[in-house]
Amino acid sequence: MKAIVVTPMQPGSGRLTEVPDPQLREGEVLVRVHEVGLDGTDAEILEGQFGEAPPDDDYLIIGHESLGRVENVMGSTTGLSPGDRVVAIVRRPDPVPCRNCAAGEWDMCLNGRYTERGIKGRHGFLAEFYTESPDFLVKVPAEIDPVAILLEPLSIVEKAIEQIKRIQSRLVWKAERAVVLGAGPIGLLAGILLTLEDIEVHFYDATERGIKSDLAEATGANYIWAGERKVSHELADEIGAVDIVVEATGYSPLAFDAMDMVAPNGVVCLTGVSGGSRKLEVPADHLNLEMVLSNKVVFGTVNANRRHFESGVRHLLEIEARWPGLLSRMITRRLPLTDFARAFERSPDHVKSIVEMA
Ligand code: BGC
Ligand code: ZN
Repeated sequence: MKAIVVTPMQPGSGRLTEVPDPQLREGEVLVRVHEVGLDGTDAEILEGQFGEAPPDDDYLIIGHESLGRVENVMGSTTGLSPGDRVVAIVRRPDPVPCRNCAAGEWDMCLNGRYTERGIKGRHGFLAEFYTESPDFLVKVPAEIDPVAILLEPLSIVEKAIEQIKRIQSRLVWKAERAVVLGAGPIGLLAGILLTLEDIEVHFYDATERGIKSDLAEATGANYIWAGERKVSHELADEIGAVDIVVEATGYSPLAFDAMDMVAPNGVVCLTGVSGGSRKLEVPADHLNLEMVLSNKVVFGTVNANRRHFESGVRHLLEIEARWPGLLSRMITRRLPLTDFARAFERSPDHVKSIVEMA
């Protein structure tokens, strides 16, 4: 079958090639891939900064945001039938599961021996077919077919917001306002979920005006251009107390600015994977004092487990009902397999790029 593969850690090795068809085993499901979304992690893998081949191969099939249809099932206990639409979960627990992996919280793995499809030690979905155990497949209703490719990035945001709520159960808290740093797919989806919770959302992004500000404003949120404002407590003085900051740019200096900006008892949630080695001088005493005297929390979050994909399905239906067509507008580029590399051309006009397989 055709697939996009890389030789891990080798910059520019991404290529379209023929690989062996996956072999369907007892209790597994064969899925025909329809669409694959691409993101910053894929870009880093193609640049050779990240990525690991499965133990028996010297190449890695990339792609971890998928939507496909069940083609065949082997065995009677899969709970899935040919024709079902499915999105695959990305991470798999480590072979000798740690406490968290054993409890289905593989997104919280303690020892780093987990694998991730298309990223770390397991082939991904940018291929014609894949096989998988039904434990790691989430069925999606036909109504959300056009936007279900957003379920994987949404699962990341579902986890982030669940974690914010769990952390903040430490006090009497009512979030009124949030700032979302970065209006890419993760940032936009975070802002949308916060808006569904009746929280006032302000997006902050380096892109001046265009599709990102249009999408942000279509949800009723405010859009702040980074060229005009800095992330600081002065910004909070202007817009009002910021109870939540979601950092979704991966530009690490903003994490420190967010600690300064967030209100007393507030929470800063970091989601951006910053692959570089940037160094920074920070007002350490000031930030430490602020964090202590104002009971602030900063936390990081990665990946998602099954319940986050499942709540994501419910939210996709809710978002489609509240803002019809909004999610489809986030998918700004649909490319054929032969053109996958174009998904990484940077442009202010693009939000989510996807590869169409069929
Ligand atoms: C994926 C996550 C993954 C993370 C780190 C992200 O792009 O969406 O599932 O855990 O990269 O590998
Ligand atoms: Zn583990």
